[in-house]
Amino acid sequence: MRRLRQTDAIRNLVAEVNLTVNDLVAPLFVREDITDSVPISSLPGVSQHSQDSLLGEVDRLGSMGVPAVILFGIPAEKDPEGSQAWNPDGVVQVALRNLRERFGDDLVIMADLCVDEYTSHGHCGIVDGNGRVDNDETLDLYANAAVAQADAGAHIVAPSGMMDGQVLAIRDALDEAEHPDVAILAYSAKYASAFYGPFRDAVDVTIVDGGNRAGYQQDWRNGREALEEIRLDVGEGADMIMVKPAMSYLDIITRARMELDIPIAAYHVSGEYAMVKAAAANGWIDGDLVAMEQLTAIKRAGADFILTYFAADVAAQLG
Ligand code: PBG
Repeated sequence: MRRLRQTDAIRNLVAEVNLTVNDLVAPLFVREDITDSVPISSLPGVSQHSQDSLLGEVDRLGSMGVPAVILFGIPAEKDPEGSQAWNPDGVVQVALRNLRERFGDDLVIMADLCVDEYTSHGHCGIVDGNGRVDNDETLDLYANAAVAQADAGAHIVAPSGMMDGQVLAIRDALDEAEHPDVAILAYSAKYASAFYGPFRDAVDVTIVDGGNRAGYQQDWRNGREALEEIRLDVGEGADMIMVKPAMSYLDIITRARMELDIPIAAYHVSGEYAMVKAAAANGWIDGDLVAMEQLTAIKRAGADFILTYFAADVAAQLG
């Protein structure tokens, strides 16, 4: 085997997978009440954007060849239902309209579909009298948000709330609203993960009463359950599925790949990014190389594309 490792040219010839810029989706944060971008301290290099600075950032990503973005919103007002998630003038809907107008179909425009950034209690749905999220009542909120995002120009909506039946509810609502071409990327296997820490700073979300999402996101002790979640979402009409986080769940990506022929996404999440950046800032690792190694490993495990805060850094390296 060593013979095939002797030169860069031979190594390139026999490489089983190659990360390319086409594999990258950049997560972007757009905030309602700001006029300039605000850096997120726990995600070095990532900012909350104003509507204007968002367009500038997407110009920059596009010029580097990054083909897709996914939007998260930070509204000025929150309420128990998260109604800004479907207000046609809500922060993400405005951003979607601006992006679609500027980039048309040259950019893949995705919207994260959940209500946690918009609810006063920070949960991903309607909270009942016992402090639990009511699955079925929450589906109506997601249907509303899906239609608002599609009306505003999203090519793909990505439900991340882990409610049972959410994909079917969203598909029905989109079809009813005459958006049959808007695709669904389902966050099917989403774990109740401590790796989301920096993201909650990025979107200013604190879950009320020190709560967590273990009542709806997956238990990280379980792998078979993830496959069952994925099967259910595919059955409900998901066009693509996602595994999240990525690095601690490569086994799930591989098992999904063995079973499915539809596209599989992986989300290299905020904590995964922040750990690399922090270690690199201390001079303990080479951050650029570790990013390439991790993202390539996610592809090797079986993912077709990767949502990653490294999108710009890696596009620059690949450029
Ligand atoms: C929910 C959502 C979360 C992330 C993406 N969508 C947070 C959560 O479930 O608490 C996390 C992404 C990351 O950590 O990078 N809207």
